[in-house]
Amino acid sequence: MIRVGVVGANGKMGKEVVNLVLNSKELELTLAVDKFGAGEIIGNTIIQPELESAIKHTNADIVVDFTQPSTIFENIKIYQKYKIKSVIGTTGLTNEEITEIEKISKENNTGIIIAPNFSIGAILMMQFSKMAAKYFSNAEIIEFHHNQKKDAPSGTSIKTAKLMMEANDNFKLGNCQETETIKGARGGDYSENGKGNIQIHSVRMPGFVASQEVIFGSDGQTLKIHHDTINRSCYMQGVELAIKYLYKNNKFIYGLENIL
Ligand SMILES: NC(=O)c1ccc[n+]([C@@H]2O[C@H](COP(=O)([O-])OP(=O)(O)OC[C@H]3O[C@@H](n4cnc5c(N)ncnc54)[C@H](O)[C@@H]3O)[C@@H](O)[C@H]2O)c1
Repeated sequence: MIRVGVVGANGKMGKEVVNLVLNSKELELTLAVDKFGAGEIIGNTIIQPELESAIKHTNADIVVDFTQPSTIFENIKIYQKYKIKSVIGTTGLTNEEITEIEKISKENNTGIIIAPNFSIGAILMMQFSKMAAKYFSNAEIIEFHHNQKKDAPSGTSIKTAKLMMEANDNFKLGNCQETETIKGARGGDYSENGKGNIQIHSVRMPGFVASQEVIFGSDGQTLKIHHDTINRSCYMQGVELAIKYLYKNNKFIYGLENIL
């Protein structure tokens, strides 16, 4: 049995992770931490409010963190201080912070997997888009999210465009001089170092969780790669994979694609 702790256990994602662990024959919930709902009983454990004292005394082999961007860097330092392996789903780490975490993890010989997207379908959608990119002259991305999402375009659409640019940095916008009669009609232009021309369009409305379509075009053909997130349970296959991988491999990993 792998002993698992869940930090952010009372949040939307944390509750999914708790269910995953409680319903698994190979995982055992030995720690739950959340500022909200402290004292509540989940399985055989009680939600604890204070992270450092909980981590200091835990017997968990691995903790899974789905909390909030403003504290995630400090949380990771606590996991590293007590040499507890961690699976990090919380988003918002800067590139500099990720570089520092890699250094600390190697110094402490304490593995960590950070994955901004745990949906295996979304990871494959990005990888397939990168594969297709070098064979097409034009590409645009449409991403669809619920209307509570604060940022646009989504991090996943930006990462997809970045991966596509690694394969082909010569996409075209259109084939003639374009004029927008309504501003924004052609979407936002993703570019790097003056190169780019992958238009990203963001749709926000109730009904969606998270979807994305990458459309490629060249003379006489189009290719569409589409992924839909129906609910948050889609992330759990990736979380379980990360827990089991990290249990056996004491490494620093950034991105779920690196363990698929
Ligand atoms: N990697 C992925 O695939 C993926 C998927 C969905 C969401 N996320 C990210 O996961 C994070 C959580 O999302 P959510 O929708 O579950 O949020 P949420 O607000 O529903 O839950 C967060 C929980 O963490 C608790 N919390 C916050 N800071 C804490 C701390 N320092 N110590 C203890 N508990 C703390 C809160 O009380 C809350 O219950 C966000 O950063 C979100 O972007 C990642």
